Amino acid sequence: MNISIIVGSLRKESYNKKIAEFLIKKFGGNHNLEIVPIDKLPLFNEDIEEEPPAEVIQFKKKLKDSDGVIFVSPEYNHSIPGGLKNALDWCSRVDRVLVRKPTFIIGASNGNVGTARCQSHLVQVLNSPGLMTLNMPNTHVLIPNVQDDFDEEGNFTNERTINYFDKIMTRFVQWIEKNRD
Ligand SMILES: Cc1cc2nc3c(=O)[nH]c(=O)nc-3n(C[C@H](O)[C@H](O)[C@H](O)COP(=O)(O)O)c2cc1C
Repeated sequence: MNISIIVGSLRKESYNKKIAEFLIKKFGGNHNLEIVPIDKLPLFNEDIEEEPPAEVIQFKKKLKDSDGVIFVSPEYNHSIPGGLKNALDWCSRVDRVLVRKPTFIIGASNGNVGTARCQSHLVQVLNSPGLMTLNMPNTHVLIPNVQDDFDEEGNFTNERTINYFDKIMTRFVQWIEKNRD
C-alpha cells in the first residue's frame, strides 16, 4: 500500500515529524510510507487554482496516487497549524484529490491535551464538501507531553503509544481495503 504522511509542523526538530519517521521505520517494511512535505506550497489563492505552481501539482498528484493519508500534526493556538490548513485548502479545489481518501489523525503536543482541539477541528475540515475524506472513525491518537517521550538518542520511547500504533495501523489498512472503489 502507498500511504502518505502529512506532518503539520515545518520545524526541523519537530516531534510530530519524528513520530512520522518512527512510523516509517516501524511499518515501512510492510507498506510504502512516505512523508509528503507541505513547506514549499504557496499560500492558497483562488486566482491560480486552475493553473497552480509545480509544487502544488506534484503535491496533489502524490496524494491522489496514495491509498491513504495519515496526518501527524501539532496543535497551534487550539486549532490546525496554518501550513496544514493551507495544504488542505489546495486539496479541496479543482480535482479535489482527497475525496473518499481514507485518512486518520495522530497529534503530539507539549501540552496536556495532546492536540485534541486541533483534531476535532481537523475532522470537521476533512468532512467539508471540498475534502470529504473517509476519516477512520473513533481513532484519534493523542500524544500529550511529547517532550518526555524521547530518549537522549532521539528514540520514541512511549511504549503504550507504540503498542497502540500496531493496532491502529492494522485497522487503517483494513479501513483502506474496506473502502476500495
Ligand atoms: C504557534 C504555536 C502555537 C501553539 N499552540 C499550542 C496549543 O494550542 N496547544 C498545545 O498543546 N500546544 C501548543 N503549542 C506548543 C506545541 O505543542 C509544541 O511547540 C510542539 O512541540 C509543536 O510540535 P512540533 O514539535 O511537531 O513542532 C504551540 C506552539 C506554537 C509554535
